[in-house]
Amino acid sequence: MIGVFDSGLGGLTVLHALVARFPQLAFTYLGDHANVPYGNRPSEEIVELTRAASEALFLRGAKLVLLGCNTATAVAARRLQREWLPQSGWLAKGHNILGIVAPTVEAATQTPWSVTTPQYPQKNLTDRIAVFGTLRTIQSNVYLEEIRKRCPKVSVIQQVCSELAGAIEAEAPEARLEALVEEGIKGAMAQANGEAPHRAILGCTHFPLVEHLFRRHLPPATRILSQPEIVADSFEDYLARKPQYAEAHGGAALTLLTTGDPEVVSQRSRVFWPDGLAFRSLAA
Ligand code: DGL
Repeated sequence: MIGVFDSGLGGLTVLHALVARFPQLAFTYLGDHANVPYGNRPSEEIVELTRAASEALFLRGAKLVLLGCNTATAVAARRLQREWLPQSGWLAKGHNILGIVAPTVEAATQTPWSVTTPQYPQKNLTDRIAVFGTLRTIQSNVYLEEIRKRCPKVSVIQQVCSELAGAIEAEAPEARLEALVEEGIKGAMAQANGEAPHRAILGCTHFPLVEHLFRRHLPPATRILSQPEIVADSFEDYLARKPQYAEAHGGAALTLLTTGDPEVVSQRSRVFWPDGLAFRSLAA
């Protein structure tokens, strides 16, 4: 079984793409609704919450946990992969954690993650790439550093949208969401001296839910990269290389867990998953 984690409902955008791509696999999704949003929390808290969630998924049978959350990936993935997985013994038992920044950087730079120095022709790329994310994702500079490592001439415009994930999670009215998106885009355009970014990364898994609003306010020439599709493509490659994680022991299954109120969360999930999903409490 494959675990997918997000601070709340945003990771469902990634889960949706994964279930469509791998209908034969079993997935368990965990949303930490008791603590959402993560985006403005101190980094140490994000690391600890992500560790606890990954362990909860391991204990329920996941061998592989995909962090369907940019904030958790940006702040916690490397620490958990390098320190906690080996120290806790989970690595020795064959468990692993993956993030979603690497595939997104690969798609944005057209360079494999394993290539960490500029290569022709990417080293001459002079595109402008705008990254929209939570406060912690942007403060981590992970997108900026990883893109510039591979494409040093690309200008990376980083824009914090600190209220947007929380507003989406709280089902704020469309006008409020649009105002927040517009404010973020204005900030990015000011940083770019009014020049249209060639590509935009919606670097928060909640943001695809308001992609239409980004589309409305971004210059028409800016292409929006679709992170859920990018992650599904990259996950397909990963499972081809690591088939042990793709063994469908019990066949297709979808289990939805939350640290919050399952009824409220199931109701809200309709925004993300029109057929509706039945969440259960992690504690039960
Ligand atoms: N969906 C998350 C992300 O991709 C986190 C949003 C939040 O909890 O602030 O960053």
